[in-house]
Amino acid sequence: MSSKTPENPAPQQPASAAAEISAATTRPRRPDPSRFIDLALGRMYRWIPGFERIYARHLHPARLNVERVRVRLSSWEPSSHRIRIAHLSDIHLGPIVGRETVRSIFELVAARRPDIVCLTGDFVNHSAREIERYEGLLEILRPELGMFAVLGNHDHYAGRGATIARYLEERGVQVLVNESRHIETPAGPLQIAGLDDLHFGEPDVPKTMSGLDPKLPRVMLSHHPDAFPAARREGFDLVLSGHTHGGQICLPWIGPILKHSRHGYHGGHFEEEGSHLFVSRGLGAVVLPIRFRCAAHLGWIECLPAPAPRLRQPRRERPSRATTPAAES
Ligand SMILES: [Fe+2]
Repeated sequence: MSSKTPENPAPQQPASAAAEISAATTRPRRPDPSRFIDLALGRMYRWIPGFERIYARHLHPARLNVERVRVRLSSWEPSSHRIRIAHLSDIHLGPIVGRETVRSIFELVAARRPDIVCLTGDFVNHSAREIERYEGLLEILRPELGMFAVLGNHDHYAGRGATIARYLEERGVQVLVNESRHIETPAGPLQIAGLDDLHFGEPDVPKTMSGLDPKLPRVMLSHHPDAFPAARREGFDLVLSGHTHGGQICLPWIGPILKHSRHGYHGGHFEEEGSHLFVSRGLGAVVLPIRFRCAAHLGWIECLPAPAPRLRQPRRERPSRATTPAAES
């Protein structure tokens, strides 16, 4: 957070963040060729009998890579409480990823008993009807302090974001479109904000910021990780993102073949100037039914109060040998 004085007023931070976000969204909304390849291949997969089951049993990486991150929130009073956030992203329930895969992942997450579940978009692949296949699945998660979500670019395709948001809301997921929620946790108050997708939504930073108290911890959900520089400058403690799939296919020596972040936020934990970013490599797959050297990725974020300051104990005077009873005897 920047310091502000009356003599030297700080620049209008929300305006600069808005400008930065709009610069990140300048990518033209022209048809994306990979989207049509994905659509065509998706139709082909549907023609293969039992394809979802084959993917669930043999192609989806059985191992869920759980990455644990600790975030200290200085505005919480020192205590032994910690809030555990399970961060899931890019499920892409559709022609490749079926209900069996999603159920097994959700059961693994629920067994860890998170306090909060955050979902950062791309619930479906290409069809609005795919969201209906979540029936009975979101109920598996049931965290104590709630589920919060933003939509991703795939959710927005064909203007069906509102349909997907309504479906999720009806099943207890709070979908944050440029808005925030204040929640009370055993460790202290927490604010969770959701920014709409940078490329296919209508991201509005001032609107997202408007309900937030800067003195309380702030977490931002943003499908695209390139919102992080603006969020960091606004003083967000933590940003949770997805979108990149970690490249989905990572070749030896080369790394991810697809890189979706201009700033190099391809996956994992980043910390800059006291703000944290966690980019999930996602749970599902698009275009090709393969995740190579890039396992499904669950973020396990532990939010803790900052440690209590140590009080310096006054140094004890050592009694001189001559005055101790032992010395006298
Ligand atoms: Fe995705």
